[in-house]
Amino acid sequence: MTIHIGAAPGDIAETVLMPGDPLRAEWAAKTFLDNAQCVNRVRGMLGFTGTWKGHPVTIHGSGMGMPSLSIYANELIRDYGVKTLIRIGSCGAMQEHVAIRDVILAMTASSLSTPSRGIFRELNFAPCANYGLLRAAADAAQARGVSVHVGGIYSSDVFYDERPDLNEMMIRHGILGVEMEAAELYNLAARYGVRALAVLTVSDHLLTHEALPSADRESSFGDMVEIALTAAFA
Ligand code: ADE
Repeated sequence: MTIHIGAAPGDIAETVLMPGDPLRAEWAAKTFLDNAQCVNRVRGMLGFTGTWKGHPVTIHGSGMGMPSLSIYANELIRDYGVKTLIRIGSCGAMQEHVAIRDVILAMTASSLSTPSRGIFRELNFAPCANYGLLRAAADAAQARGVSVHVGGIYSSDVFYDERPDLNEMMIRHGILGVEMEAAELYNLAARYGVRALAVLTVSDHLLTHEALPSADRESSFGDMVEIALTAAFA
């Protein structure tokens, strides 16, 4: 057990999928895993372990934002020996050619700041995805007929952004979408020598102001889970 994860040693698989929402973790585990068992409920941050095609997998919530994700990813990697972490979440699109429901695979994640800023100080470390996972996820998305984009995203510290000039700069530099967790996931993966990837479904559009209808959220989320699981064991 750790401060934030009540699972016994051995109850967490080496491969972890991390949605922000703990109830999404429960839905994904019950929908896609065999014999899913709840392994954590500390502070309501649910985690489930089961198997997918015989491979042990844990699906565990990260919470929203990099400080929350950092707590769970640190404990999963350092205390439970997790080797592969795949964020499955939503993002806001920042380019016209990216549409609602499309999937973005984050090759790299820009940020103003991350919880690792205190370590990196003046260094502009470039957090990046694991290439093998990225390539396998792109192949899996294409095989499923999902419209997929691979490129840079922006990991923001705020959902309610008061800096339109910053968003404009991101858009001008080809950033595909904005979310709030991937940069620190990639920093931690680099620090501890594990594999990480963020697979994101576009839930809203910063240019067109469209949003994914709630009825469509489950099926789009399901595509992401299958892409992530296929990539993890490719
Ligand atoms: N996650 C989904 N949409 C987002 C947005 N517009 N900004 C930040 N995080 C998001």
